[in-house]
Amino acid sequence: MAPGLRSELHCVLIICCIMTANCLTLTYPSYNTFTLFIDDKPLLDHNSGDPVAAVGRSRINFTEDQGNFIISEDVYEKIELSTCDIDESGMPDLFKATCYSVENFPEVSVDFAVEETADSELFRKTALVNITVFGRDRLWFRLASNSTEKIYGGGEQFTYLNLKGREFPMWIREQGVGRNLSSPLTEIVETGSPGAGGDYHTTYYPAPIFLSTWNYAILGKQERYSILNFTSSTRKEIYVHDEKLTLNVGTAANLMDLVGAINREISVIPPTLPEWIYNGAIVAVQGGTQNMLDKLQQCLDNGVNISAIWIQDWAGKIETPFGYRVFWNWRWNEELYPKLDSVIFNLAQQGIQVAAYINPHLNVEGDLFVEADNLGYLLKNDKGETYRQDFGGFLAGTLDFSNPVAKQWYADLIKTNIIGFGFKGFMADFGEYTPVDAIAANSPDPYQFHNLLPVLWASTVRLALEETDTLNSVLPWARSGFTNAQGFHSMIWAGDQNVDWSMSDGLPSSIVAALSLGLSGFGLSHSDIGGYTTLNGILTRSEELLLRWAEYSVFTPLMRTHEGNKPELNHQIYSTNETLKSFARLSAIYTSLTPYHKEVVSQVATFGIPAMAPLFLHHAEDIDSFDIQYQYLYGSDLLVAPVLQPSKTNQEVYLPPGRWMHLWDNDQKVFEGPVSVNVNATMGKTPVFFRDNSKWISLFNDIRNRFNL
Ligand SMILES: *[C@@H]1O[C@H](CO)[C@@H](O)[C@H](O)[C@H]1NC(C)=O
Ligand SMILES: *[C@@H]1O[C@H](CO)[C@@H](O)[C@H](O)[C@H]1NC(C)=O
Ligand SMILES: *[C@@H]1O[C@H](CO)[C@@H](O)[C@H](O)[C@H]1NC(C)=O
Ligand SMILES: *[C@@H]1O[C@H](CO)[C@@H](O)[C@H](O)[C@H]1NC(C)=O
Ligand SMILES: *[C@@H]1O[C@H](CO)[C@@H](O)[C@H](O)[C@H]1NC(C)=O
Ligand SMILES: *[C@@H]1O[C@H](CO)[C@@H](O)[C@H](O)[C@H]1NC(C)=O
Ligand SMILES: *[C@@H]1O[C@H](CO)[C@@H](O)[C@H](O)[C@H]1NC(C)=O
Ligand SMILES: *[C@@H]1O[C@H](CO)[C@@H](O)[C@H](O)[C@H]1NC(C)=O
Repeated sequence: MAPGLRSELHCVLIICCIMTANCLTLTYPSYNTFTLFIDDKPLLDHNSGDPVAAVGRSRINFTEDQGNFIISEDVYEKIELSTCDIDESGMPDLFKATCYSVENFPEVSVDFAVEETADSELFRKTALVNITVFGRDRLWFRLASNSTEKIYGGGEQFTYLNLKGREFPMWIREQGVGRNLSSPLTEIVETGSPGAGGDYHTTYYPAPIFLSTWNYAILGKQERYSILNFTSSTRKEIYVHDEKLTLNVGTAANLMDLVGAINREISVIPPTLPEWIYNGAIVAVQGGTQNMLDKLQQCLDNGVNISAIWIQDWAGKIETPFGYRVFWNWRWNEELYPKLDSVIFNLAQQGIQVAAYINPHLNVEGDLFVEADNLGYLLKNDKGETYRQDFGGFLAGTLDFSNPVAKQWYADLIKTNIIGFGFKGFMADFGEYTPVDAIAANSPDPYQFHNLLPVLWASTVRLALEETDTLNSVLPWARSGFTNAQGFHSMIWAGDQNVDWSMSDGLPSSIVAALSLGLSGFGLSHSDIGGYTTLNGILTRSEELLLRWAEYSVFTPLMRTHEGNKPELNHQIYSTNETLKSFARLSAIYTSLTPYHKEVVSQVATFGIPAMAPLFLHHAEDIDSFDIQYQYLYGSDLLVAPVLQPSKTNQEVYLPPGRWMHLWDNDQKVFEGPVSVNVNATMGKTPVFFRDNSKWISLFNDIRNRFNL
């Protein structure tokens, strides 16, 4: 279509389906100015001064060092496509436009179509936005926004739940240490190792999925590098390194329905998690069979309820400057763990499971690396040699999951050496480190493959579970992800928090991680109790932090400890009998909540309600709850307000509309929300409230009677 051809058609106003608000609508007040609505909410708006699209060119470097990426981009051309010719002849089902800049039309342009798609059972209405760029390979595509809209999701985000006002690159990587460029800690880390400090947006699990308080969700299909840019108050911009962009749009009557639809549309979680997880905490120990059994006994003697002992070093250990690391050669290390086969069997008789660890890499020193290398199953470098990558003091190769034979070989390894050996759970770690100069057998685009690897890794783990029919008895928990990982994993953990209280990388950030994941299609997650990253002389774990983290983990789907990268510097649950006794009480509360946990988990699968949800999801009418990111609802009846600072004896808690009772209040006073209340929050008593009409009241009363200090 030639420029200006449609000018005689200005001032067209198409109003359709007013009764049902069930289609696309368009306002077209003047030439080159339009707003397209979906379900009565603005989706796109365009005028010559604030156009819907721009295109351009850039040079970019992704410099990788131990999973941290320094991304430097030089955008040397950006062309605003200030003119759009529209074709509304297909309305209300189809809207089309061609956008260009008069200076370089027809060489450079963008075509896009917004097409109403067959009604999804889950969303109220769906549309496909299909955008094609001509003449360039960088696209900025803008959706409408205004200053009151709030935006959530983006995968797993740790610092900010509401994404409005900031940019979020979609590039999987290590989350960084400190994650706050203005904090002294991140500065120290960055000085030693540029890129390792991270920033507010660095994450193991980004996903171009977000939802708006306008009750629609955008499910972006892009896999190459992109940025969700919510900086502008009038735009939700998506910047992609591609010549095409496809967005699925789904609407719902309210945010709960919307999140329910997102979660059910893209997640394939089993309706139940393994029964054994409810027997207590998964307790991390390492250092060999004897140490494992001694620590287990000490825990049991102090009354800890243990569902599983987790030995991440089952395959052996190595020492690196960062700390104690696992030997990445995924088979039983008989030297470190003598008689582990019979120990696993005997513990299972007592109702205690054993869990292991694996990731998609093989240490070059191991025999499995040699085997995979000989078979050609590992990623290659540009010289055609197996890629040997630095993982922090040692070198390892990465499975090339683009090769179906290699993928099956790895699934078989998991089936034989982990599941077949008797482990009932495992951490499925890593997935973020793939450099852009690594070459995969069947994936020609390294920029896409980087973000795809975690999904292929997830599907490999899933394959191993399916082929052993253990989806409901063996529990992997994973770290990395991208769009579609939701279709393979049922449990994520929040990765490596610092052993501190910082908003950007400590205990508080693990809450935001769970909530943002839950809004992005992943309803089940948990975190390392006490955090992970320990820095000699700078950052070590206190008993208080460990117990506060444990207190809140009682009200999450899974309770699991980690000793951290420098176990001897951190306070551990077994450091003193006093700590063990406190932890024992918490593990027993977790176990006592089993019927409630099961309902919460089943509601994730059935209704797509995230296990841990921000207050506004259950209370969309309550405008004051939209900015609360450190309190959450666990299931629909428990409101949890974790203690986020040291030395607290009481805490201010915001209660949304409804009638609430404090779990630890013997007088069972009823509070009428919305209200802020100040309650006792001494050690062992994370503020938790329940609804006064909950069907679980007798369970909650029983817990208070048994466990109130
Ligand atoms: C990318 O790296 C090359 C080689 O180091 C350098 O010359 C170039 O300026 C870098 N480009 C950007 C955008 O940082
Ligand atoms: C998107 O548009 C391109 C170019 O017009 C077309 O080839 C492709 O089939 C469209 N895809 C969908 C899903 O409509
Ligand atoms: C923002 O847009 C929404 C949805 O169209 C509308 O309800 C609201 O009034 C707008 N707010 C402002 C400040 O323009
Ligand atoms: C980052 O660090 C600065 C300086 O310590 C602090 O003021 C700010 O609150 C921190 N931001 C977050 C999100 O933790
Ligand atoms: C994000 O949007 C802001 C405001 O419109 C703009 O200044 C910035 O350049 C955008 N970022 C990218 C990466 O395009
Ligand atoms: C810790 O508890 C165990 C089991 O009750 C007991 O045998 C041991 O003596 C206690 N240790 C100390 C230091 O009290
Ligand atoms: C939890 O541990 C206590 C003390 O060892 C024990 O009495 C109780 O039966 C355990 N609960 C469950 C559900 O295993
Ligand atoms: C908080 O609880 C502790 C332990 O039960 C109790 O000693 C203290 O008096 C309570 N404080 C308040 C302000 O109620």
